Amino acid sequence: MSDRTCLSIVLAAGLGTRMKSDLPKVLHEVGGLAMVGHVLKALDSAGSDRVSVVTGPDMPALSDLVAKLMPSALCHVQTERLGTAHAALAAREALHRHADDVLVLFGDTPLVTAETVLKVRNALREGSDLVVLGFETENPFGYGRLLTENGNLLAIREEKDASDEERMVTFCNSGIMGFSGKHALSLMEEIGNGNVKGEYYLTDAVEIANRRGLKVSAVSGSEVETQGINTRAQLASCEQDFQNRMRRAAMDEGCTLLAPQTVFFSHDTQLEQGVTVEQNVVFARGVRVASGATIRAFSHLEGADVASGCIVGPYARLRPGTILKQGSKIGNFVETKNVTFGAGAKANHLSYIGDANVGSTSNIGAGTITCNYDGFLKHRTEIGVGSFVGSNSTLVAPVVLGEGAFVSAGSVITEDVPSDAMAFGRARQDIKSGRAKSLRERLKAEKDGKVKSST
Ligand code: UD1
Ligand code: MG
Repeated sequence: MSDRTCLSIVLAAGLGTRMKSDLPKVLHEVGGLAMVGHVLKALDSAGSDRVSVVTGPDMPALSDLVAKLMPSALCHVQTERLGTAHAALAAREALHRHADDVLVLFGDTPLVTAETVLKVRNALREGSDLVVLGFETENPFGYGRLLTENGNLLAIREEKDASDEERMVTFCNSGIMGFSGKHALSLMEEIGNGNVKGEYYLTDAVEIANRRGLKVSAVSGSEVETQGINTRAQLASCEQDFQNRMRRAAMDEGCTLLAPQTVFFSHDTQLEQGVTVEQNVVFARGVRVASGATIRAFSHLEGADVASGCIVGPYARLRPGTILKQGSKIGNFVETKNVTFGAGAKANHLSYIGDANVGSTSNIGAGTITCNYDGFLKHRTEIGVGSFVGSNSTLVAPVVLGEGAFVSAGSVITEDVPSDAMAFGRARQDIKSGRAKSLRERLKAEKDGKVKSST
């Protein structure tokens, strides 16, 4: 497509009142990314040269997100929400600069893929002046119906304007349309608002183009990909479809998912070939897992980088900034945050390790806690290569354990431990011979009431 220039206009100003939310509709997330972000990602992969996003006047969070995700995109404000054609014309300034293909997409249709965008562009390249992406559905309620005759697209009829007969049609408008650059602006400008809702419907471009004798066509995509989100229930069902897509992609990449329906992904989760994921695992944003690692059941990972051969879980929680080098192990009820575990290092049970660096092959015993926060500032714990931290130890940061340091169990470590030194940070053990027996006898006697308690 590089021989043709392309402007994509993403309509995102609608409030989505049926979502019953203070958040602009397109900022609701699917797989941890705002719906509009998914559309921008697809456009990026489809090689759209220019992208314009139409926002509402009161949506700074939306324009901020667009600037972050796609700095080259322009934002245009639709001051009144008078319909999809009115919204597209808010990008008039962008439309004045010629592009061979002009695409209009909706920010509330997040699962559209780059391949489908390219399908619409292909139809333009093959000579159509206006292309509509349609889909077949058993439940067309709420969608504009594509009215065709002998394979020609005659009109799109919105639910509220459709006759009973037209409502029976199951071929629907996804909202994605392609215009040849020569006609885009003039078609949009001719659209009126003489319908039940009194809105300027972009879909009316079809009848206008037909009246002008232009070539109008429909291409079809899958229902999953083209679903538009207007309600929370639709958002939840879209999330499910997105998760199924991610599960499928992970398995196609060569990962083993023992119970795919119980594994949840973010839009940016990266699993390399040969990763095994057990049941009930959640990948929140920013996780990468390298080949040959195993994520065991009931683990939650966010912002973590897991190298090959690592074993995480069961019941592990990796928080942002966790880096696990090759073959390291994080076991049950261990929470990590902003920490690097060197190759072969282990924390197998019941620990919190945060703001730390754990040297390779070190062993962190059960119940170890890094005290990284004093209520105001965070402090680091450095644990040298080959160290051993005994169970139930508290490492009060900032603190450094040298290479090969040994911390005895139950220690509270407040001072640095030199390399190869052993640290005891607890009271010394005291033995009283026979004292247990005599205590037992006295207590038993007290209970039996034979002697009065002396205390
Ligand atoms: C629209 C289509 C319908 C299609 C359906 C697919 C029209 C008239 N109808 O209906 O044919 O089947 O999508 O999901 O085009 N928007 C604005 N400004 C506005 C109005 C809408 O930016 O003034 C944006 C919304 O943020 C949304 C998109 O346009 O991203 C679609 O608007 P929405 O109100 O959801 O239209 P639907 O009723 O779903
Ligand atoms: Mg919609």
